[in-house]
Amino acid sequence: MEKLQQLYEGKAKKVFATDDPELLIVEYKDDATAFNGLKKGTIHGKGVINNQMSNRLMAKLESAGVPTHYVKELNQRETLVKKVRIVPLEVIIRNIAAGSFSKRYGVEEGVVFEQPTIEFSYKNDDLGDPLINTYHALALKLATPAEIETIKKYAFQVNDFLRAFWKSCGVTLVDFKLEFGRLSDGTIVLADEISPDTCRLWDSKTGEKLDKDRFRRDMGGVEEAYAEIMNRLETHL
Ligand code: TMP
Repeated sequence: MEKLQQLYEGKAKKVFATDDPELLIVEYKDDATAFNGLKKGTIHGKGVINNQMSNRLMAKLESAGVPTHYVKELNQRETLVKKVRIVPLEVIIRNIAAGSFSKRYGVEEGVVFEQPTIEFSYKNDDLGDPLINTYHALALKLATPAEIETIKKYAFQVNDFLRAFWKSCGVTLVDFKLEFGRLSDGTIVLADEISPDTCRLWDSKTGEKLDKDRFRRDMGGVEEAYAEIMNRLETHL
């Protein structure tokens, strides 16, 4: 597989064409941003960890019946993925109140929900990824009704699977963000990444944060937390 020209550079990844029009190469960077790019920094080794973690989890999800873009890990930072057109929705599932949910609704962090919630943001940096509902998504023609149903079904399946997996690692899955894409034939698959950048992961015993909130909130021990969460995953694969 030949790596051709760079097609796109995002905040945490670069995307390259390959000699197969249906396949792309994703390269994970150590760059970290928060608050829509206002806060910038580096988390040394993050690219390697996010690449490997996302690939391990997507491979497991694929076996559990959730189609993903994942094809093959090429090296520590690069992965071959199926080419998709990203559905411009950030799909957020929450099991426990935290982050913007706590702030918006005045609920203390750590309150456990009786059932998971789902919410959507319009993936648009210029607008600051505003929260929207499914009617807004339809009005904006971001997805069809059938696609939204499929995305919701997969998102809750991902939650069931990941929650159980992380529990076996002694980690509580608080919330996470997913992105989906369309293959050339229109099939919806899970895309982007599943990593400590896109999930809140708390040590089940101590409640210690093992995710990007340590960077967002200047808590220190960021690299150590990424290494610890990767270690938990590897010892429970
Ligand atoms: P929030 O509480 O800030 O809305 O974040 C919910 C989840 O989504 C959390 O696990 C972090 C993740 N997330 C992203 O992956 N990208 C983002 O741009 C934001 C704001 C959150």
